[in-house]
Amino acid sequence: MSVQLESIVKKYGNLQVVHGIDLEVGEKEFVVLVGPSGCGKSTTLRMIAGLEEITQGQLTIDGRIMNRVAPKDRDVAMVFQNYALYPHLNVADNIAFGLKIRRESKQSIEASIKEVSGILGLTEYLDRKPSDLSGGQRQRVAMGRAIVRRPKVFLFDEPLSNLDAKLRTQMRAEIKRLHNRLGVTSIYVTHDQVEAMTLADRIVVMNDGRIEQIGAPMDLFLNPANTFVASFLGAPPMNQIAAVVAQSADGPVAEFNNHSLPLPHLEGLQGATGREIVVGVRPEFAEPVNVVSPGVVPLEIDLIETLGSEALLHSMVANEPFVMKADTLTGINVLQDVKGFKIPRELIRVFDAASGKALPGQDQPV
Ligand SMILES: Nc1ncnc2c1ncn2[C@@H]1O[C@H](COP(=O)(O)OP(=O)(O)O)[C@@H](O)[C@H]1O
Ligand SMILES: [Mg+2]
Repeated sequence: MSVQLESIVKKYGNLQVVHGIDLEVGEKEFVVLVGPSGCGKSTTLRMIAGLEEITQGQLTIDGRIMNRVAPKDRDVAMVFQNYALYPHLNVADNIAFGLKIRRESKQSIEASIKEVSGILGLTEYLDRKPSDLSGGQRQRVAMGRAIVRRPKVFLFDEPLSNLDAKLRTQMRAEIKRLHNRLGVTSIYVTHDQVEAMTLADRIVVMNDGRIEQIGAPMDLFLNPANTFVASFLGAPPMNQIAAVVAQSADGPVAEFNNHSLPLPHLEGLQGATGREIVVGVRPEFAEPVNVVSPGVVPLEIDLIETLGSEALLHSMVANEPFVMKADTLTGINVLQDVKGFKIPRELIRVFDAASGKALPGQDQPV
């Protein structure tokens, strides 16, 4: 079922916190709203669920305008960060709660509990109370309660944020498998860009009550529309170097601190000598080198963080922190001896310094 948001605005009194959001979520799509804390993700989700009134704009689910429809009649199911389970009910009754309210037959309720607890690996725990379950199991019960209702849309609000790192990774994969299996249209809110990258068919990056960019995860990773998205997605995020455009014999270059770096052949850089730009360099795309030669930007490594197969090399470029992600297979002592980096010009991203917007012509797949 599709969900459509048109110019959705939310005000609390005089304070506007969502400034007119347009979004179309397609049938069976898994869309993730991601952004820093306080940017309006939960408010947007709660307006879709009917838990918050929509101040302005139109919400459509499955072709029907929902602005004035009560939450229970919207056919959506929401999963919260804090699980919101009934502590006095066991797992089976928690899962069945919505069905009992709907007065489904005992037989059909039992069949649903059996099926859903099977899918979620809860069959052995049906008699337990929530207090006797682990965090991951509780979150699964909360999902079970949403699934049995067979809603048109699943809404998730940071469902994994209360879990420890290992469990979070595990549950993330489970949610993705569940979606592949059930194919229910899903809107998922998180502040965690890794969750967004791994779960989403499309990511919606939000900032301060507005949408910064919408696109497939790798599209946003490779072609961020602006410096905000560039600095939000990716771990570590894209390095940003303030620079000025100059021209060389074989095309435009970025100049900073007496260094120059070949830039992609973009229209906006032709004859744009002196234009102030931000040069975006993904930590994964900068190649550490041990010899400074022409085309190499020199730097001094001041910290190496080893992660196993990879290491993060920290340094400063143009007075800003600069991080590279390097393979450890070549040996840590080689990394300790890194003297600079180079990068193919087509892997560099260029932003306008004043607006932060990506220069046009960079939205080609790399
Ligand atoms: N009931 C409320 N009254 C006033 N302001 C609110 C209320 N709920 C949320 N806000 C404000 O709206 C903004 C967006 O909040 P929220 O949607 O919860 O952000 P997020 O989920 O992205 O962290 C925040 O600035 C928050 O303080
Ligand atoms: Mg929130």
